[in-house]
Amino acid sequence: MKTEFDNYGELSRFSLEDPEQFWGEVAEKLDWDRKWDTVVGPGEGPIPRWFGGGELNACYNCVDRHVEAGFGDEVAIIFESPVTETSRQLSFSELQEATARLGGAMRKRGLGKGDRVLIYMPNSPEAVIAMLACARIGAIHSVVFGGFAARELAVRIDDATPKLVLAASCGIEGAKILPYQPILEEAYAIASHVVDATLYWQRDQGPADLTAEHTLDWCSELAAASLVDCIPVAATDPLYILYTSGTTGQPKGIVRDTGGYLAALAWTMEGLYNCPPGETYWAASDVGWVVGHSYIVYGPLLNRNTTVVFEGKPIGTPDAGIFWQIMAKHKVRSFFTAPTAIRAIKQVDPEGALVEGRDLSSLQAVYLAGERTDPSTLKWTERLLNKPVVDHWWQTETGWAICGNPLGVEQLPIKAGSTSIPMPGWQIECLDEDGNAVAPNETGAIVAKLPLPPGAAPTLWNAEERYFEAYLERYDGYYLSGDAGFIDEDGFVFVMTRIDDVINVAGHRLSSSAIEEVLATNASVAECAAVGIHDDLKGQVPAGFVVLKAGTENSQIAEELIADVRREIGPVAAFKRVYVVSKLPKTRSGKILRRNIRQIADGDVPTVPATIEDRAVLDEFFQLFEQKAESV
Ligand code: COA
Ligand code: AMP
Repeated sequence: MKTEFDNYGELSRFSLEDPEQFWGEVAEKLDWDRKWDTVVGPGEGPIPRWFGGGELNACYNCVDRHVEAGFGDEVAIIFESPVTETSRQLSFSELQEATARLGGAMRKRGLGKGDRVLIYMPNSPEAVIAMLACARIGAIHSVVFGGFAARELAVRIDDATPKLVLAASCGIEGAKILPYQPILEEAYAIASHVVDATLYWQRDQGPADLTAEHTLDWCSELAAASLVDCIPVAATDPLYILYTSGTTGQPKGIVRDTGGYLAALAWTMEGLYNCPPGETYWAASDVGWVVGHSYIVYGPLLNRNTTVVFEGKPIGTPDAGIFWQIMAKHKVRSFFTAPTAIRAIKQVDPEGALVEGRDLSSLQAVYLAGERTDPSTLKWTERLLNKPVVDHWWQTETGWAICGNPLGVEQLPIKAGSTSIPMPGWQIECLDEDGNAVAPNETGAIVAKLPLPPGAAPTLWNAEERYFEAYLERYDGYYLSGDAGFIDEDGFVFVMTRIDDVINVAGHRLSSSAIEEVLATNASVAECAAVGIHDDLKGQVPAGFVVLKAGTENSQIAEELIADVRREIGPVAAFKRVYVVSKLPKTRSGKILRRNIRQIADGDVPTVPATIEDRAVLDEFFQLFEQKAESV
């Protein structure tokens, strides 16, 4: 799938000048049931629709076509689960049968094209099978990360209105077994929408009670099912919905279309990740995040790569050498993880002693995303592995990298702190408040000129209007990324911070509003602000600043609020810091100055707006952090 270009500049220019030709050629590498009428045509708004009139199936492209081409015995999935001491492999033929059976079981239950299926499973081959089986029958999957609590699940159930839930009986976090059934049952009790049934993949470590009503067993359902074929869907039909945090407490259901997404992923597997068919690709992420969707499941399988599915942590399962051990064992060629995972390893094994003795000769490059890679982490990784380390920038909304270093076409210089240059089809600019382009190296809002390339979300589920408000309204003709940074004189993009109140914890996005909604429900709390503050390991962690109601004394407030957020949002929020203050800094119109709180907490000089109501309120925050108070 390598293009004819050896020079990335030429390739990128071509992708912008003639998108029809560029993406049309890329899409020829996929298998279509019906060829498109137009490569790119108008959508309902300014977001174009890709490959209109075309029909294809994602599961067919990821699985069946490789079997038909004679690669059925090649390994599709390697499962490495140090937490269960399991290591197993599935060939493309086995994956085909499993998806055909699960598809058959779902079809028997009346599911078909356009129906939603919620998936609540840990990283496992079964989760991959679940996603592909949905795609096989044209159902739209929505995977929810295991670390979310019942209330968050319920919000997603009410929004996506799935007929069926595919679940594991438990997740395993290090030494902890986390039963999923009680969380799902609680979510069903909170949600208004009624799910027809839950199909559990039983795990020995923590089985579900299958005698409960509307509860089905994965093994027996699959055994009784007939095998179904892949059905063609429109290229513009949704493949999945994936919820992500926005500025409000209500998560956004990012909709991913089928044809444009597969075409974009197909280009990246070779152009960006430099991973030809037959090689092994490993994204140490989770199927619950966009990285997992694109690079544990669809991207590598589409390209006939073996994908590694890892159930464990970078450290402690069993040690900080697990990444290197798996890479050497399976001859991983391209490796993708979050900078926080590398920082975790670096903290435990600063000299990289655990790399010694591991044969990493197959490894070509390491790719980092999810949060900014701080230069010291990048350099440490480069020194340790002596391989290129690529920081690349993307979002749940985009589905693939907006900027990166296209190693499969041409390796550009690696500038620590930068996410390199825009990928094909992306035109990135930095704008000031008035919408004017800022000079090189000056900070501005990072935007993408419309039209967006294939793969980027065409809409939000049930919230078309919100899509326009969140991304398109701010600057006419541009997509607002929500990130700020600068572009240097060579066109290298530096993504530095969010412009909104989204918190990035260990590469995951959290909404400050969602946390504030929980804090505000505590009877002792009069006012609150949730702010992401710097953390050496996780990049940021959320901290709650609360003003208690007049006359209230509550020595347990920190414990209560920590427990509230864990119960309502989930452990993934990593909410462990609470500060009681007498007042919150606000503008005269009453807007809380979260940015100033964050700057003070991070030891930066706050950029205090002229509209601040009372500057003296900040003194308490200076004292709090000069004293390095950890919590009340
Ligand atoms: N199901 C249930 N709970 C989960 C979970 C899941 N799938 N994932 C995380 N949690 C829980 C953890 O057990 C932890 O709970 P605790 O407060 O009881 O300890 C909490 O959520 C926070 O988890 P995590 O952020 O994973 O922190 P950690 O301290 O356990 O591990 C790191 C720290 C750096 C090792 C870990 O954050 C990590 O591996 N990060 C990489 C993230 C990543 O791959 N991102 C991909 C985006 S590209
Ligand atoms: P998510 O949608 O959860 O993947 O989060 C996307 C957000 O994470 C982006 O908008 C950025 O704020 C941040 N992000 C992801 N990758 C990078 C990166 N390489 N550099 C800087 N920020 C990043």
